[in-house]
This record gives sequence, C-alpha cells and structure tokens, in this order.
Amino acid sequence: MIEFKTQRVAYPYFVVALFLFALQVVMGLWLAVNYAFTLPQELVDVFPFATARAMHTNLLVLWLLLGFMGGTYFMIPDESKTELWSPKLAYAQLILLVGTGVAALIGFFFGWTQGKPLLEIPLPLDFLVVIGALMFLLNVAMTIIKGRNFTMTQGTLMAGLVTLAVLYLFGLPFYKNLSIDWYYWWWVIHLWVEGAWELITAAIFAWLMIKITGVERKVVEKWLYVEIGLFMFTGIAGTGHHYYWIGAPHYWLWVGGIFSALEPVPIILMLWDTAHHVKKRKLTIQSPLIFTLAVGLAIYHFVGAGIWGFAHTLPQINYYTHGSQVTVSHGHLAFFGAYALLNLTVFYYAFSRLKGLTSFREILGKWGFWITSVSMFLMGLAFGVAGVLQSYLERVLGLGFMTTQLQMQLWFKIVLVCGLGFLVGVVILIYDLLTLKPATEVIAREEETAAA
Ligand code: HEM
Ligand code: HEM
Ligand SMILES: [Fe+2]
Repeated sequence: MIEFKTQRVAYPYFVVALFLFALQVVMGLWLAVNYAFTLPQELVDVFPFATARAMHTNLLVLWLLLGFMGGTYFMIPDESKTELWSPKLAYAQLILLVGTGVAALIGFFFGWTQGKPLLEIPLPLDFLVVIGALMFLLNVAMTIIKGRNFTMTQGTLMAGLVTLAVLYLFGLPFYKNLSIDWYYWWWVIHLWVEGAWELITAAIFAWLMIKITGVERKVVEKWLYVEIGLFMFTGIAGTGHHYYWIGAPHYWLWVGGIFSALEPVPIILMLWDTAHHVKKRKLTIQSPLIFTLAVGLAIYHFVGAGIWGFAHTLPQINYYTHGSQVTVSHGHLAFFGAYALLNLTVFYYAFSRLKGLTSFREILGKWGFWITSVSMFLMGLAFGVAGVLQSYLERVLGLGFMTTQLQMQLWFKIVLVCGLGFLVGVVILIYDLLTLKPATEVIAREEETAAA
C-alpha cells in the first residue's frame, strides 16, 4: 500500500529508533534510582550519574533524529511523487550514524566525552555525524529536485532539516571562555527544539493531516506560512531566556522574557488548527488510533512546551527555578509531548502502510498511548513538585544542596513508580508496532466477501 518501494528504507530507521527508545527509558529509570536512594559509593565510582545521564539524553536525541530521518524518507517520495534518489546511500547513512552512536555510548562509559550536556559526543565522532547529516541532506534534496513537484510542506521540512544540520556546527568548537561556550551551546539546544525541530514537526504534521483526514492541501498549508513566521519571530529572539544568568549582556532579560513569552502562540495555532480539522473532517478516518495520536501530540505539545515552558520563562520566575527539577519537568513533558509523540504517530502511520494494512488492530496501540501519556504526565508532575520544593528550600530559604536533596527523595520515588508505568506503555507500543496485525472485523469482512 505504499506508492513508492523506496519508502521502505524508513523501516530499519524506525526499528532502530524504537530499540534505542527502550534503552533510553531504562537509563532514565536508573537515573531516578540514583535520586531516590543513596547508592553505595563503589557503584557510583564505576557508573557515575553523569555517565548515565549522558546516555539517557544522547539516546533520546539519537532515536528522535533517526525517527525524523526515517519519517522524511517515508514522506519525501510521496510528496515528490518519485522514488528516493539513492536507497543505498540511505542504508549506508543509517549504519554510519548507528555505529557512531554506539561508539559514543561506549566512549561515555570510559569517560570519553566533550562534557557539554546533550552534546557530549567528542569531536572526532562529531565529524562522522556531520558526514551522516550531509548524506541525508543530499539524498533528500536530490529526490526533491528529481521529482520537480515542489510543495510548501516539503519546503518547510527541508528548511527545518538544513537549519538543524547547520546549527549542529556551532556546538563543535569548545570555547575556553565558558560564557561564550554556553552562549553557542544554546544556539544548538534552544534553536533546535524551539526552531528547527518545530519546523520539521509542522511539516510532517501537515503532511499527516492531509493524508489521514483528507482535507485539502491548501487549507493545511496556509497555516504553515503563519506558523513558520511566528516560530522564527519568537523562537530566535526567545533564545534570550537562556542568557539570563550566563554572563551575557543585561538586555537579554528583556528580549528573552518578552519574546519567549510569545513562543506558545505558534503552538496554540497548531492546536487550534488541528481542532478545526477534527471538526471539519468529512472523510471517515481510516485509523482512529493514528488520529488519536495526532490530536494527542497537538495537545501534549501545547501543555509540555507551551504551558510548562511559559511557567518558568520570565526572568522573575526563572531566577528561582533555573536548572532545578522544574526544568527537568518541562524537559520531559515537552520532549515527550512534541517529539516522542510525533515519532510514534509517524511510526503507526508508516508501519501500517508498509505492512499494507488500511485497517489494523488498534487496542494495544491505544493502551500504549494512554499508559505512556498518563504516566509521563504524572512523572512530570512529580518532577515539578520536587522542583518547586528545591527552588523554595534552596533558593528562597537558602538551605544547603544535600539537605534539600533529602527532602526531594520522596518525589523521586514517585518519579520511579511513574517511570515503571511508562516503561510498560513503551513495551506495549514497541510490541504492537513490530507485530501490527489486520483488524479482526476487517478479516471477517474480507472472508465474507470472498465467500459471497
Ligand atoms: C518542544 C519544544 C521544547 C522542548 C523539547 C524543550 C525542552 C527543554 C529542555 C530539555 C530544557 C533543559 C535544558 C537544559 O538546561 O539542559 C529546556 C529549558 C527551558 N525551556 Fe524549553 N523546551 C521546549 C519549548 C519551550 C518553550 C516554548 C518555552 C517558553 C515558552 C520554553 C522555556 C524554557 C526555559 C525558560 C528553559 C530554561 C530553564 C532553566 O533556566 O533551567 N521551552 N527546555
Ligand atoms: C522511565 C522514564 C524516565 C525516567 C524515570 C527519566 C528520568 C530522568 C532523570 C532522573 C533525569 C535527570 C534529571 C537531572 O539531571 O536532574 C532525566 C533527564 C532527562 N530526560 Fe528522562 N526519564 C525518563 C524518560 C524520558 C523520556 C521518554 C524522555 C523524552 C521523551 C526524557 C527526556 C529527558 C531529558 C530531555 C532530560 C534532560 C533534562 C534537563 O536537562 O533538564 N526522559 N530523566
Ligand atoms: Fe529555550
């Protein structure tokens, strides 16, 4: 049921991404154990918290990027109405990137790290990542050029992917002046998640909407223009919300505060637009599950990034919450709501098409979606309570770091319980995706027609 056979290259990308997702969650649980209990020093000496944290976050970035790349390879032939330029290059790229990822994870274990959070990968491995990214961009660009069927959705996706790759370069050098180093570090981190990745999400989401609701392309695409404009306007200057306390000039307090407070606006637009399509959908939705995932993503994106982001973005509040578990709460809800759910939506759509199923068994997928979504939300709340406690005890009352940590342990135990629930949901989703089966009613109906 896929129109172009090279769309199949997406499949191994997705399978690897799912496996890394599971590994990432296991690492997250281990981190929570570190916070919830006092571990023996011998254990911490062999496997320090910082190493496990680097693995947790780098696995996250790697699986999400592999998911985006697979998603792009699945979408671009359909948008360009042509086969992928080079499937071989796409497979080689996957092997290169996964190889680099594995080398990085092993390296972290032995202390081979550049030290910057989320960008711990050491410089020599960075070059391999850059080569992988170039292979990817070349393949996608050549396919678009070959197809000569230029669309706004495709253009937005390409703009997001190029921005993503270019920004990565700013994280490569290490500046001895730490203020400068952090300054550029945020170009990667902030302008990725609140710029480039948002464009990619908007494009893939628009394409999915066209595909699953059957609404007219021009209806979906017109909001892409508005959204891109707003993302650029608020997202770029919004970087200032990370420049409050790193030794950057004073005016960032104003610029960062004002522009980042406006950042939820494009996300609200996306939510509003989705609600609009839900009301207007005229075709019968082939798969309610995929539709649920898409709506869930729009709402969760708004909550995790929009509301939770807004909550601590003004300097008056961030002064107390900066770098606390409030940040961790937002990080989890935003990453899960926007990017993990986007990937899961794409996976369900692509897996069902790749297996030639218009209608498939949805029950496990629904359980998986609700279990992961609810346990992640509760986990985010528990991190949030720990963070408010931390901000109050440490920053308002001025208690010591360890005294405060002790008061927070209960909430990390709750995080751990929610995390175990989350793992159950993830296992269900992975099992379901890998064994996707036709819906029984569909089989029954087909048998009936065959008999008649
Ligand atoms: C999907 C989009 C988003 C994702 C994935 C995301 C993720 C993150 C992550 C992981 C961090 C922690 C970085 C670190 O210090 O290691 C962070 C920090 C922050 N985010 Fe977001 N974010 C998103 C959108 C937003 C939006 C829209 C806002 C504002 C309205 C916002 C406001 C903030 C602020 C103020 C911080 C700094 C917290 C501190 O000072 O410790 N974020 N974000
Ligand atoms: C069982 C599930 C999980 C648990 C128990 C867990 C736990 C943790 C813990 C304890 C940290 C360290 C926080 C710190 O340094 O103070 C962390 C960091 C992080 N985790 Fe998770 N995690 C889980 C799943 C996830 C998922 C599914 C995502 C993304 C979709 C995610 C994204 C992140 C991010 C972005 C950070 C860095 C946060 C920051 O810099 O503020 N985690 N996680
Ligand atoms: Fe930011």
